[in-house]
Amino acid sequence: MRRLLPTPEPVAEAGLADAYRLPPGRHLRANFVAALDGATSVAGRSGGLGSDGDRRVFRVLRALADAVLVGYGTAAAEGYRPVLADSAVGQLRSALGREPTAPVIVVSRQASLRPDDQLVTDAVAPTVLVTCAAADPGRRDALAAAGVHVLVCGEDDVDLPGALDLLAGRGLTQLVCEGGPTLFAAALAAGVVDELDLSIAPLLAGGAPGMLGTGGLPSPATTRLIQVLEEDGYLFTRYAVEAPAQPRLLD
Ligand SMILES: NC(=O)c1ccc[n+]([C@@H]2O[C@H](COP(=O)([O-])OP(=O)(O)OC[C@H]3O[C@@H](n4cnc5c(N)ncnc54)[C@H](OP(=O)(O)O)[C@@H]3O)[C@@H](O)[C@H]2O)c1
Repeated sequence: MRRLLPTPEPVAEAGLADAYRLPPGRHLRANFVAALDGATSVAGRSGGLGSDGDRRVFRVLRALADAVLVGYGTAAAEGYRPVLADSAVGQLRSALGREPTAPVIVVSRQASLRPDDQLVTDAVAPTVLVTCAAADPGRRDALAAAGVHVLVCGEDDVDLPGALDLLAGRGLTQLVCEGGPTLFAAALAAGVVDELDLSIAPLLAGGAPGMLGTGGLPSPATTRLIQVLEEDGYLFTRYAVEAPAQPRLLD
């Protein structure tokens, strides 16, 4: 892999974590892979867009995070499993001097996660469910009984800023959000996204929603490009989100 920006130079495998390291403090970064046309899935999953380099970046971002934040739709579509100590991510975390396991935080308004999901049954660092008071209390109780840490944030909808405050209070301050588009759009609109780490695949895929799904934002969020890496025609970008999407003001 090589860095194109800010300074052209090779990036050795051991240097990849440095390329994505964060300063201390609260930080929410979103990680996506997208085709040139913006599609974020092929046949309903993101794997068809990835590359070896994309998977290495994905692992590094997980290894640097206190927890993985994901919408229920993505967790279900991609067959999410817990981060385990003997996984590639777990081993990378250990090599970086971090706890080998990290919780997966699933956001679901309806508390859709099932108690027999592998995210629940196989978790070492307990899986967290972020939901709201409108979710079925029976579902919430069953998940809590199965060992899930259930956070109720908001009445009718999930209050994402409130959820992130609660998570930070538990020491989960640096999060990687792996989407999907519905969650990313909500997080951008709530002004809680600090960074977008976008892998751009040299593919034209079509037929699938982009990173924000189909709903759009009240107005564009502005970003600043801080790094570009390249390997096999894939571009691995880091953008700082400078101003969140704001409701458009009338002239
Ligand atoms: N290319 C990539 O990097 C990438 C990354 C991620 C996902 N994807 C693709 O994106 C597709 C899934 O898209 P998606 O938009 O359905 O994903 P998603 O955002 O992960 O899932 C949507 C569901 O998650 C819950 N959710 C999301 N945001 C919420 C919020 N703010 N408040 C409450 N609940 C929230 C809701 O679950 P409930 O209905 O249970 O309430 C909602 O129905 C899949 O095909 C996946 O492969 C691609």
